[in-house]
Amino acid sequence: MLRESEVLSLLMRRTPAHSLEQDLYCDAGVFEVDMEKIWYREWVFAIPACEIPKAGEFVVHEIGAYSVVIVRGNDGEIRAFHNACRHRGSVLCKTKKGRGPKLVCPYHQWTYELDGSLLWARDMGPDFVASDHGLMSVHCRNVSGMVYICLADEAPEFEDFAAEAARYLAPHDLENSKVAFESTIIEKGNWKLVWENNRECYHCSGNHPSLCLTFPDDPRAIGNDDSGQLSGLLETHVARCEAVGAPSAHKEDPVRGDWRFVRTPLLGAGESYTLDGKVAVTKPNSSIPFKDAGSLLKYKYPGCWNHFLSDHALIFRVTPISATETEVCTKWLVHKDAVEGQDYDVKRLTEVWLATNDEDREVVENNQRGILSPAYRPGPYSPTHEGGNIQFTDWYAETIVRAITGPDRRGKLTVAAE
Ligand code: FES
Ligand SMILES: [Fe+2]
Repeated sequence: MLRESEVLSLLMRRTPAHSLEQDLYCDAGVFEVDMEKIWYREWVFAIPACEIPKAGEFVVHEIGAYSVVIVRGNDGEIRAFHNACRHRGSVLCKTKKGRGPKLVCPYHQWTYELDGSLLWARDMGPDFVASDHGLMSVHCRNVSGMVYICLADEAPEFEDFAAEAARYLAPHDLENSKVAFESTIIEKGNWKLVWENNRECYHCSGNHPSLCLTFPDDPRAIGNDDSGQLSGLLETHVARCEAVGAPSAHKEDPVRGDWRFVRTPLLGAGESYTLDGKVAVTKPNSSIPFKDAGSLLKYKYPGCWNHFLSDHALIFRVTPISATETEVCTKWLVHKDAVEGQDYDVKRLTEVWLATNDEDREVVENNQRGILSPAYRPGPYSPTHEGGNIQFTDWYAETIVRAITGPDRRGKLTVAAE
């Protein structure tokens, strides 16, 4: 089990544009460092806000050792709290989802308001100060219908991303959407392998027969070419969408590289991820006035990537479980008034990505198994197809190195590694 200093030295001497060293994909010490330095520090996507539309509705989301309650208050605001009672620490919400007028601890019934303040605690004596025992809050932001949380005491900068997300997501009405279907799978692979597989489509033609009916694997159409070259088709598509007020141009975080937006066309004027390429939902949750608007591709490390189409939206949430296990939760969001069986059919809506997720699970698991062999050595990424992997592994290494070596989380490294 590697210590933090050993993880640092592995990262400092890695070969650029190559996959990572074996330990970085499977060692328990590296997993701890990843959790401490990334997952417990960064803004992490948790749920779509439309999952808890009413006051008192809550969802519990677990990240590593933490359990977090995300609840909508009577004022409509969504807040997040550590799922731990301030009496003797019992878990407050035992179920994954629920609704109640208050949050009541199952142990001795200490009762909290939906804003986290302690309302009632039985027989605690005259000196007990209820206001000293409110729930411990977790940073929480609802950005255009997507709820992000941050477990750190001091959350990193979020405003640049929030502003861009609000702009790009404006045509996609997630607040007035609903979850039509969700699927949760555990992939037997390190969370970074799940991301690396997401960041390239080098594997698409050989593994994704149904996705490839509509999704372009041309690296220049999806911004995956390391040279930064984009295809003419993408540029035409972007101009057409921007002309109707749908922000679409390729944009990524210039400082830390932890987010990106680009709206890519689907193949052959495809409208959605369906087997015939036509829309899956006849009552769309976007305001874009044509169906073949392609897919707004978004990612925000480390917690989620998304596809926003003209008719529905897809949310993929990544959560590390162990060094070699990762949960991938996928949600299909449709307009809240779309009626199943009338405006959409769940099988038609979900079949392409259910198959694609399973295909991705298999390639990730094969990748992990191969890496576990003592014979594994880091190999080179394709500059044409795997620019996204180069970008992801650079982001990962820089984020960990910066978190270990210095407090300046946006600036240059000031401390040399051993
Ligand atoms: S632990 Fe919650 S009321 Fe006692
Ligand atoms: Fe894939």
